[in-house]
Amino acid sequence: MPLLSLSTDAVIEHCRNLQDCADGRKTLFIASFPKSGTTWMQAIVYNLLSNGNQDFGHISEYSPFFEIVHTWELDGGTSEGKVREKYEQNHQQIGWRVFNTHLRWEMMPKQPNMRYIYVVRNGKDVALSFFQHLSNQDDADCFNGDLLDFVTKWCKGETPFGNWIHHLQSWVRAYRQLGGDGTIHGDGAQSHNPILLLRYEDLVRDPLSCVLKIIAHLDLAISPERAEELLQYVSFPYMKANQQQYMPISVPWKEGYSFLRKGTVGDSGNYFGEEHNAVYDAMVQGMFAMEGGVPQWLLELGVL
Ligand code: PPS
Repeated sequence: MPLLSLSTDAVIEHCRNLQDCADGRKTLFIASFPKSGTTWMQAIVYNLLSNGNQDFGHISEYSPFFEIVHTWELDGGTSEGKVREKYEQNHQQIGWRVFNTHLRWEMMPKQPNMRYIYVVRNGKDVALSFFQHLSNQDDADCFNGDLLDFVTKWCKGETPFGNWIHHLQSWVRAYRQLGGDGTIHGDGAQSHNPILLLRYEDLVRDPLSCVLKIIAHLDLAISPERAEELLQYVSFPYMKANQQQYMPISVPWKEGYSFLRKGTVGDSGNYFGEEHNAVYDAMVQGMFAMEGGVPQWLLELGVL
């Protein structure tokens, strides 16, 4: 899978080897394919864990990007994974260690006190949002072609983080193996699935229901009334008005680009024509041509 240049082999090794916190705090990974609602989920989780404290500089101070060099102390010479002190301090404040990540399940650390939220979004909307993002990145990774060029490369898995369906496959397979939205039985005891799977479209349609699922997943003592109040801080207009707290700071941006761009469902319908749809459909069908068609798990996910 093509990774960012900030994700060196040493960093990936640190990521894989991260251990549970010695003091019993839990670790949460907000995982997704890029442009699926990662930042929104970071904002939701932060507001739940901080009881809506808006006095923060940037969301990445509380949920750093897991697989980039800036997150790690790399001087120790070990591969055990030591997270930068400044993040450790912020994490102690909110009582959880939280990261955002675009890694696949196979590359993730898996320890008893680790929890995961995997966010999925319609593939065409993801591709469009990613195109806008990379076309506006003002550095060597800037994408210079048009939307059709981008969709073609994206469908071939040649853009960062590779093929979208492989990403979904990796996490959804793990999610299903661990019990889906039911429970699993280990040594006679019932336990929750460590992975919560959420759809961007459901977050847009009914954010409160999704937030209640997150509260249950993380075992937080937050009433539904308080959860509803906290939604004001994660609405699209609120986050856009406070964009400096959310726009990624690890890369420079072209003048005028708004990271909180539209935040809607189906915007790809305004940009995709016949050619874009044909490339996308060929990618989906082609991937499963040998298996007799698109599998049920992917159809059920409802993001094609
Ligand atoms: S990244 O770069 O991978 O971290 O991007 P990511 O945060 O995953 O996705 C960015 C898209 O999420 C939209 N967004 C939101 N939508 C609705 N409500 C809220 N509050 C919200 N916050 C972020 C953001 O606008 C990007 O989607 P597009 O379609 O480009 O607008």
